[in-house]
Amino acid sequence: MGRIGDTEPGNVAERIIREVYTLCRENRAGELADYIPELAAVEPDEFSLCVATSDGHVYRAGNADTVFTIQSISKPLTYGLALADHGVEAVARKIDVEPSGEPFNEISLDPLTERPRNPMINAGAITSASLIRGADQAERFERLRRCYSTYAGRELTLNEDVYASEARTGHRNRAIGHMLRSFDIVEGDPDLAVDLYFRQCSINVTSRDLALMAATLANNGVNPLTRQRALAPELVERVLSVMTSCGMYDGAGDWIAEVGLPAKSGVGGGVLAVLPGQIGIAVHSPRLDSHGNSVRGVQACRELSRTLELHFM
Ligand code: DON
Repeated sequence: MGRIGDTEPGNVAERIIREVYTLCRENRAGELADYIPELAAVEPDEFSLCVATSDGHVYRAGNADTVFTIQSISKPLTYGLALADHGVEAVARKIDVEPSGEPFNEISLDPLTERPRNPMINAGAITSASLIRGADQAERFERLRRCYSTYAGRELTLNEDVYASEARTGHRNRAIGHMLRSFDIVEGDPDLAVDLYFRQCSINVTSRDLALMAATLANNGVNPLTRQRALAPELVERVLSVMTSCGMYDGAGDWIAEVGLPAKSGVGGGVLAVLPGQIGIAVHSPRLDSHGNSVRGVQACRELSRTLELHFM
């Protein structure tokens, strides 16, 4: 298994990252997400690749400071906070950990357990959001924002325009929220759970932030630069497990076979992947494949995994 920034001198790691970046740069396949108007307005050919080691080295290619919204990459983070708020067993009574093989926005529950199949599809993610503790919506969102900021090692902010755009057009997610309420999976006001989910998806990040979030997961829940803990080690294990089996949606099988790392994608074009104990990888490139995963994000992770022999399973 390759070790980057450790047995590999920094300049070798930098060279490999630059080579992978150059290889993927010309790939213009895929389309922007356009079901949320604000996401269709981004620059389609943005591309950056950033790798952070669990001992705090950061390597980058492309503009790793370009800002985009975290989207579904928020799902494992919110799931982690729900686990911290309620414990593994209580959350498991609401959300299963089985791969669904379905699109991320499928309006479905497991027919036998009447639970969302996993926390990475929207039904599971809206349930995770409903479990975040707080006296009111502002406190619940602030707890999420602070949690994500601890992973990233800097204060993150809400993209108001993307949030407004999601809130205006998110009828399918509202349908999922009300379905969850009708099965008593969501116990409070489903519109508040869905609103919190829209907000969490609309947090601004850069690929450097995502690489540090991934490195925090690789480092057992502690941000390698700030040394602040974002998540307890036993919960990191659970979060990485569901990222492995469910993080890339109905593309999860191919991903495990070809890349072999726990990962999560978002329709903002971000991909985050983790080599436990070693590195966090982030890619930003907004053109998506049919599963809603970044085309160059998947390609760059596959190339990095192959070149550095990171395949984990
Ligand atoms: O429509 C939603 O649910 C989004 N705001 C988040 C979806 C997402 O990122 C799916 N990922 N590939």
